[in-house]
Amino acid sequence: MIVCSCNVIRADEIRHAARQGAEDVEQAYAKLGCRVQCGGCEDHAQAIVTSERACQRLAFAPQAA
Ligand code: FES
Repeated sequence: MIVCSCNVIRADEIRHAARQGAEDVEQAYAKLGCRVQCGGCEDHAQAIVTSERACQRLAFAPQAA
């Protein structure tokens, strides 16, 4: 699914950038070699970054014994 039509960025690319350490939309897009243009995708893209980072934190959280 295309999230950013200006840069033709898919949701899975944003998730990948978040797994590589991007903490916000600007960092995610920079990792993909572009930048925010019209801004119409920012809320959706940020939600993807936030969700992916939360999943990563859960995946690497210490397990209760
Ligand atoms: S839709 Fe992403 S910058 Fe325009």
